[in-house]
Amino acid sequence: MNQHARLDDKAIPFIDVAAQRRRLGRAVDDAVARVLAHCQFINGPEVRALESELAAFCGVRHAIACSSGTDAMLLVLMAWGIGPGDAVICPAFTFCATAEVVALVGATPVMADVRADSFNLDPDSLQRTVATAKRLGLRAKVVIPVDLFGLPADHDAIAALAAAHDLFVLDDAAQAFGATYKGRKLGTFGAATATSFFPAKPLGCYGDGGAVFTDDDELAARVKSLRVHGEGVDKYDTVRIGMTGRLDTIQAAILLEKLKIFPEEIAARGQIAARYAEALADVAMVPQSGKESTSVWAQYTIRVESGRRDGLAAALKAQGIPTAVYYAKPLHRQAAYRGFPVVAGGLPVSDRLSEEVISLPMHAYLERPLQDRIGDAVRRALAS
Ligand SMILES: Cc1ncc(COP(=O)(O)O)c(C=O)c1O
Repeated sequence: MNQHARLDDKAIPFIDVAAQRRRLGRAVDDAVARVLAHCQFINGPEVRALESELAAFCGVRHAIACSSGTDAMLLVLMAWGIGPGDAVICPAFTFCATAEVVALVGATPVMADVRADSFNLDPDSLQRTVATAKRLGLRAKVVIPVDLFGLPADHDAIAALAAAHDLFVLDDAAQAFGATYKGRKLGTFGAATATSFFPAKPLGCYGDGGAVFTDDDELAARVKSLRVHGEGVDKYDTVRIGMTGRLDTIQAAILLEKLKIFPEEIAARGQIAARYAEALADVAMVPQSGKESTSVWAQYTIRVESGRRDGLAAALKAQGIPTAVYYAKPLHRQAAYRGFPVVAGGLPVSDRLSEEVISLPMHAYLERPLQDRIGDAVRRALAS
């Protein structure tokens, strides 16, 4: 998490969870102490309080806290009864969890390509992927757009195609909770949204956690039952096959404190992204938040000519600046996913991006002098 490196004797973390911890100070300690005092470690009052705060934050009827972002998506697919013979369309350029949950319910992930300018699902490719799925004899049931690196996908175009092909939309906003599309917060697009509170995420807890968002009362009720083994009205009268999918009360208590400063942190990330863009726009392809969207900048990912990335990473490393590559292999190149179908015509953009992307340090507590040093170092490395 805190990948520390040295630059002029100043540690540069890639993501600095410790700086936020210092800012929050006793607030988190006190919140945890309250849980330790009341001892309701599972489904305690903080879980319900968090759910209502999260729902109010993004303007949705139901927020259902759960054990991780992966489980959030799994719970929704289970609630919809997705299974063998069903196709779930997802972008190939994403974290594995997006397709993993599809395989876990026995359905088939069918991979679509992304757009080079946003890193997100390409609606044209989605259209072609539906045709590919049908040609393979699968029932196209769900599309999972991903709001990669914190930037919302093209939700209007995706919603129109989903309506035309009768697909459920499950938005994978694991990296983008807090971002907006056309003035609305993520969590309100599609039939359901999943997010992650993994510590490195823009809103992270101190362990694993996630949430499902939906306006659909029936779906919400089913997800709540599934996260507790499929319980019915009576806890010991199980009505469906479920799982252990709850968020711990301690994590909810921590998230309640972090949510208070989250809007300020999003603003700080936006300022850092703008400063990086100013410094780097003429030497690399810098990410844009778009006219209709705001990003929460889970990652600040630039693109450089393929073949130059390793040199850039090495030059930055030598100056104590950590970088990361998300993702060096798109899903269809990874051993676990190689066997699943891809859109007819292949995934040229996902393949190209996997050779060009490199992410720079990004967190709300990255100070201005460090931003400048990183910007200068990237410029120098790319100029040489
Ligand atoms: C795009 C995406 N989807 C899903 C997940 C899964 O979230 P979690 O780690 O909370 O299970 C992640 C986590 O990194 C992610 O980046």
